[in-house]
Amino acid sequence: MAQFSDEWLEKVKGASDIVDIVGAKVDLKQTGKNYTGLCPFHNEKTPSFSVNPEKQFFYCFGCGAGGNIFNFLMRTEGLTFPEAAETLAARAGIEVPQRSAEDTQRQQERDSLYRLNHKAAEFFYRTLRTAEGKAARQYLAGRGIHKELARRFFLGYAPDQWDALTEYLRQQGFRDQLLVQAGLSLQGERGLYDRFRQRIIFPICDHQGRFLGFGGRSVGQGTPKYLNSSESPIFRKAQALYGLNWSKDAIKDKGTAILVEGYTDCISLAAKGIDYATASLGTAFTADHARLLQRFAGRAILAFDGDTAGQKAAVRSIHLLRQNGLEVFVAPLEAGVDPDTFARQSDPEHLQLWLETALPWPEYLIRQAMQLHDIQNREGKLRATQEIVGVLATISEAVRRDEYVQFAADALGVDAAALRSDVAQRVSSRPVHSRGDGRRSAVGGSSAAAKLQPTVPRTLRDQGESVERDVLRRVLRQPELLDELRREGILPRHFQNDDYRHLYALLLDGSWDLQGEKAAQDLFQLETPQGRWREYLDHMQATIFSRELAKIEENLSSMEKNKERVTAKDTLFQMVYSYFSVRKKVFHLVRRIKDEGPRGRGESK
Ligand code: UTP
Ligand code: MN
Repeated sequence: MAQFSDEWLEKVKGASDIVDIVGAKVDLKQTGKNYTGLCPFHNEKTPSFSVNPEKQFFYCFGCGAGGNIFNFLMRTEGLTFPEAAETLAARAGIEVPQRSAEDTQRQQERDSLYRLNHKAAEFFYRTLRTAEGKAARQYLAGRGIHKELARRFFLGYAPDQWDALTEYLRQQGFRDQLLVQAGLSLQGERGLYDRFRQRIIFPICDHQGRFLGFGGRSVGQGTPKYLNSSESPIFRKAQALYGLNWSKDAIKDKGTAILVEGYTDCISLAAKGIDYATASLGTAFTADHARLLQRFAGRAILAFDGDTAGQKAAVRSIHLLRQNGLEVFVAPLEAGVDPDTFARQSDPEHLQLWLETALPWPEYLIRQAMQLHDIQNREGKLRATQEIVGVLATISEAVRRDEYVQFAADALGVDAAALRSDVAQRVSSRPVHSRGDGRRSAVGGSSAAAKLQPTVPRTLRDQGESVERDVLRRVLRQPELLDELRREGILPRHFQNDDYRHLYALLLDGSWDLQGEKAAQDLFQLETPQGRWREYLDHMQATIFSRELAKIEENLSSMEKNKERVTAKDTLFQMVYSYFSVRKKVFHLVRRIKDEGPRGRGESK
């Protein structure tokens, strides 16, 4: 059913009138708002079949048959849903989007790729455990990856031969073209040969455990050190995270994911009982990665090598993760030490402590800035302070911000009040939409800071009323949408406009009065807004949550002023937590709106 967009279906629905369609089969008579006739679905002498043009529904009081325009055609013509939709589209002169055969074919191709990779993974797995894999096994053992661990991560080995895998896969009935497409075989002058040769194989799965591709590490010194499957319809490095298939549940349970950079980091952590890590695949961390992670965790702990590259990666990841509503911590490591080495050197208790004491991101960035500049020297100290002001200004929660102002002032040895005032100035002068490309790359610098800023709530607050109007306008046209609003927990008090609030309350309990009538009439004067319903709903919710967020922010600010009041403590924390959760909701919705926004709305106008 996913083959037609909601938008397209809406369009088809909107272009067809149920009275026309049903009227072609059933002799209908108007009775008040509705039309009635003899039911086409059961034998009857007196009409109990009714069509409601307002709701675009039919219903038989005799046999209980009912549904919308699509259901009617499906039942009377014996059509499938897509066929009914296409019939109606043709009738209304609406073009059918790329025929489903194409989608079906694409899906089949993807399925073949999954199956192919699965077979390849099995081939590699077995080879590691044969005589050919002896040196590889020894190498792994030398790195602390023994039999059991290798099994757990489905590690394999690509033998030192030109076409062992290619031949194997051919025997399994796969076509050459697919082998190349999956990036497992390469086209040479004398035919296909294996991409992975003499390499330890790390299968890369999606969170459902489907095999997307492979990472192959040379045994020992060979170059390149790592080789990955090439990009394919099922394998996109900028979207996949290694290890999620194993760590997903632990991540969900803990609400936390450890983000590392290498396959071996995941494995060595797991060897010590730390099973909630996941790794990017040798590409920079992306917004897609952050979105994927956000589905499973509300908190991320970054564990990167302490070298410059690792620090840069941390800044970038902090930014992207925060933008997606995650709380971010950094578990620092020395330069030249990655989580793999560190995990192998440490006992589980030590690792536990290391993760538990991970630095909240502002602290990490503050420390970074202080390391980067010589703060013994006055100018160095001022430069560090400048950067730190930039970091602090991106903390949207007032109490939290002040906490870190205090921390930074102490650390730098500057006056807290002065620092606070610099930060306040930066906060207020910051443009609402500061989505730079981060041209300046200083660690923890103001460019990174500017990008961390959540910008959404204010703009959404202004749009509140127009969203309410659009939502109601659509509900009036399609009353069945009301149920969805109810399900999503949207209450009358969530409407800001008095008339709309009143009308919504009436609609919810199915009553009516003059004020409601008037509001509805006004709405009917307006054009029905186009685009996907889901978007309007997202907008509406984002608006509601943003307003809630603003209220919490206000409360937090006033609590901050009354710091000394002991009673405030519990409430304060409760509020901070609900702040996190509401903020996460807003971010989630806004992200979705942004992703889909520019398309749906304009297009069908
Ligand atoms: P690292 O060089 O940090 O590798 O690259 P590592 O995980 O510590 O590997 P070992 O410990 O030497 O075995 C981190 C990640 O970057 C990707 C891989 O995904 C690797 O896990 N990478 C690295 C490549 O794709 N190609 C390379 O040549 C190197
Ligand atoms: Mn390593």
